[in-house]
Amino acid sequence: MVVLELDRLSCHFELTPGFVDRVIKRKPPSYIKAVERLSIAIGEKEILGIAGESGCGKSTTCSMVSGLLDPTEGDIRFRGKSILGLRGDAIKDYRRSVQMIFQDPYESLNPRFRTVDIVAEGPRALELWDANEIEQRSLAMLDAVGLPSGKYAERFPHELSGGERQRVGIASALVMEPEVIIADEPLSMLDVSIRAGILDLLREMQAERGFSSLYVSHDLSILGNVADRLLIMYLGQAMEIGPAEEVIRNPKHPYTRALIGAVPIPDPRSRRAIPNIRGDISKPIDPPPGCRFAPRCPYADASCSNTFIEMETGAGTLHQAACHRLAEIDNAGS
Ligand SMILES: Nc1ncnc2c1ncn2[C@@H]1O[C@H](COP(=O)(O)OP(=O)(O)OP(=O)(O)O)[C@@H](O)[C@H]1O
Ligand SMILES: [Mg+2]
Repeated sequence: MVVLELDRLSCHFELTPGFVDRVIKRKPPSYIKAVERLSIAIGEKEILGIAGESGCGKSTTCSMVSGLLDPTEGDIRFRGKSILGLRGDAIKDYRRSVQMIFQDPYESLNPRFRTVDIVAEGPRALELWDANEIEQRSLAMLDAVGLPSGKYAERFPHELSGGERQRVGIASALVMEPEVIIADEPLSMLDVSIRAGILDLLREMQAERGFSSLYVSHDLSILGNVADRLLIMYLGQAMEIGPAEEVIRNPKHPYTRALIGAVPIPDPRSRRAIPNIRGDISKPIDPPPGCRFAPRCPYADASCSNTFIEMETGAGTLHQAACHRLAEIDNAGS
């Protein structure tokens, strides 16, 4: 059963040209195509990981799904119904059902609120329960995320460590009893020594409460551990999708192969061809219509810049890559 579905979702930002370009030279505006025709479906209790270099559109995707940013094109469906243009109770219900865990536990908490009030803020805004029940649930949630409410409920964010603040962020999301959690790099601002604890907490909560997750990270070893399926993005496009372990062990797309190339394989007999990628990641400003990795891809042919491959990304779909030269690459690598 599909819980959340992104259907050919695009987000383009218009770059405002300077006065001379706009008025005198009459240049048309340029667009940053941050996300391009991205389709994903997340199943019940599934954890879908998204990986890719900085600027590939991971946070933009999260913002669109959480309703903070309107897509330029495409649709987002929650339990089969489009969320675009929702009004009244329906939008309230969606806001409760889909919760974000933010990257920065320092910026995402209101510094003037006590911990218990931070957790209670969402339920109060949406009037989910009466005042007493909201208070009780918020205290219980603090206990559940490893912050005993007797000790932590009255504290302000500046009286908490980074890991404790991220636990408050997790409590604020989970107190809403969401069906989907969107975690955008929830560990990257934390000290390495406390990441494992927060990751364990997220895993535990997922197992206990059975929500689905969209989990964004640069770190493939974390995603290999937590995600059921993995989506690899490059400059706004989906490059590869499949069961996380399979994508990491047996990447198909030249980009994924390069991304994963640095991760050592425990089996000394195992060999994989790592493409030799040149150049730097660029900005997706007015890109050509085809594969955005083509300018850096050692296997690209003349048609790649015009060939956009849409993958079948429904819940539980098999391992696929958005590349029309996979057979040639396999032959070259063996
Ligand atoms: N509001 C905006 N206006 C213009 N361009 C934007 C805006 N937000 C994001 N972008 C651009 O869209 C692209 C994708 O950005 P996004 O933040 O989604 O990347 P990301 O994959 O989350 O990167 P990171 O790993 O660094 O967090 C980038 O080129 C970025 O500069
Ligand atoms: Mg980001």
